[in-house]
Amino acid sequence: MLVFATSDKGGTGRSVTTSNVAYQSALAGNDVCYLDFDFGSPTAGSVFDVDSGRLGVRGGGLHSYLLGNVAEPHRIDVFAETERDSVKDRAYDAGRLILMPGDIGVGEFPSSPEQVRRCATLIKRLIVEFDICFVDLSAGRSYALQMALAAAKQLNGVKTRWLVYHRWTKQHVIAAAALVHGDHGILEAGEDLGFDREELLSSLRFVRTALVDPSRPGLTSQQAVWITEWDGKLQAIAQAEGAGPLWLLHTVPLDPVLQWREQLITAHDVNNIGIANERTADAFKRLSELLLDDKAWEVR
Ligand SMILES: Nc1ncnc2c1ncn2[C@@H]1O[C@H](COP(=O)(O)OP(=O)(O)O)[C@@H](O)[C@H]1O
Ligand SMILES: [Mg+2]
Repeated sequence: MLVFATSDKGGTGRSVTTSNVAYQSALAGNDVCYLDFDFGSPTAGSVFDVDSGRLGVRGGGLHSYLLGNVAEPHRIDVFAETERDSVKDRAYDAGRLILMPGDIGVGEFPSSPEQVRRCATLIKRLIVEFDICFVDLSAGRSYALQMALAAAKQLNGVKTRWLVYHRWTKQHVIAAAALVHGDHGILEAGEDLGFDREELLSSLRFVRTALVDPSRPGLTSQQAVWITEWDGKLQAIAQAEGAGPLWLLHTVPLDPVLQWREQLITAHDVNNIGIANERTADAFKRLSELLLDDKAWEVR
């Protein structure tokens, strides 16, 4: 299974959510690989808390591989290298969790047919080795997204799913929907590459992140009423733009820990020290299950 993580904007929660979903998937026993294709800012290492790759690696990362400078991209074994004891501490039957970081300071680059070929070759190998590969793509109509689409076209027979992350705000909903349905969006760019539009659409779902719960303590009754009303209006906007409930994979609640720190939410955070909400961890776990649940991906 191949999962591309996209968003129109930065700051949607794409990387933090995808990292946590990858983590939950590994805890469930899957061998998981996470490729950091956020070429302009490959900081997935900081979410996984691996010192050797907080901002990417110095040479040998995914940039180096795609640009043809190394034969294999660098790998970081998250469970072995993370600084966090509660991430290290996992059940004996957890799967592997491998991060392939980008390179420090290389940035975005337009992709050539040769780089698309290298990308497809890498993914072809990884989907044999791993149960699930996540590719976290730079935001917007980026070079990374173009490369992913072009490589995906060369991956006949590989089960591929696209996640489009957005915050639950008017601007984010409209932008995320346009990334899919709008000019030079995923569907149009995919069609230009030879994808069947409907088929591509059916492999794509939205994920809403950092949703405020109107019953959350500390809100005034006016705030709770307003949030509930505005939530209804956002639902209508999402529906009108093609990002309605039919196309929604799942939502992730706002979590106080993630507001302050990009990190994996562990059982220790929820149960032992009580800093993270159980509902947040449950949402990541549920997303990891839904990704592999064909029912959630039946043609809409
Ligand atoms: N469910 C959530 N609740 C609160 N904050 C969140 C949540 N998900 C992500 N965040 C925070 O939002 C910010 C942006 O998330 P990030 O994953 O880096 O976005 P992106 O990869 O889309 O740019 C980070 O500080 C992250 O910790
Ligand atoms: Mg990111």
